[in-house]
Amino acid sequence: MRNFTSVHDVKSIKDLVKEGIKLKKNPLKYKSLGQDKTLVLLFFNPSLRTRLSTQKAALNLGMNVIVMNMTEGWNLEFEDGVTMNTDKAEHIKEAAKVISQYADIIGIRTFPSLTDKKKDYADFILNKFIEHSEVPIVSLESAIRHPLQSLADLVTMKELGKVKKPKVVLSWAPHPRALPQAVSNSFAEWVLNAGMDLTITHPKGYELSKAFTKGATIEYDQEKAFKGADFVYTKNWSSFKKYGKIASTDKNWMITKAKMDLTNNGKFMHCLPVRRNVVVAGDVLDSKYAAVINQANNRTYAAQAVLKNILESL
Ligand code: CP
Repeated sequence: MRNFTSVHDVKSIKDLVKEGIKLKKNPLKYKSLGQDKTLVLLFFNPSLRTRLSTQKAALNLGMNVIVMNMTEGWNLEFEDGVTMNTDKAEHIKEAAKVISQYADIIGIRTFPSLTDKKKDYADFILNKFIEHSEVPIVSLESAIRHPLQSLADLVTMKELGKVKKPKVVLSWAPHPRALPQAVSNSFAEWVLNAGMDLTITHPKGYELSKAFTKGATIEYDQEKAFKGADFVYTKNWSSFKKYGKIASTDKNWMITKAKMDLTNNGKFMHCLPVRRNVVVAGDVLDSKYAAVINQANNRTYAAQAVLKNILESL
């Protein structure tokens, strides 16, 4: 694997999930693989889990890690052919090449604008780094995908799954802010590419891009969707059609214990951070249903599986 930006960069999802599970059992087995190699993590947006788990994954592989908050430096210019007489002090053409002198692998977190659908869905910033970097790029969540999260989610479902063909439900839930579609797009893409059945439930107006959900069942009745579910993955996202807008804040879509009781003793999943009693009732997070801490823990081993795979190809 050269870059890790989506499920399409992965040769075998099954093998990568297995690798994550194996690394969890023996995280320091490949401690010498990353010796004298440096991972540079660039954050254009905040992070708790991705930042810490990816660093931990790299340290487990013996790598050096440098983390840079890109919001604290100067703005980068990503457009070609412009006269740089604004507040943007450095062009991506130089910046990506310069960072490549210090890094063996670069990780990038860059959220969408939620105003320019065309640019966001072209994954403009991530692809500019790929175009101009001299070393592999790992997405730490881009405008439209969060592949490290999705891989950790598949590891978690493999660990906790009780049946061979689980019923997986992706449910929209309310949130006061307009949020990206990245986690939901990515979850749907990974689950469907792994050959699992997926039901997506949301109020009308929250249809995700078909590029990510082709093959999923769309169910507008949330309680009907939850019946018999083995996994309920919850996430808020803003409208794809009315791009970046909040189409509904219907509190009735919050995940409650009564709704989880409709499932097949299913697991409640969320990438975190999550707002208690807005997205999900606190008693669900405190109950046997919650798998959110397992998911967060598995972020380390998902990242480690990806970094190991890239290091082996250098
Ligand atoms: N789930 C996730 O990516 O969390 P952070 O935004 O804290 O990295």
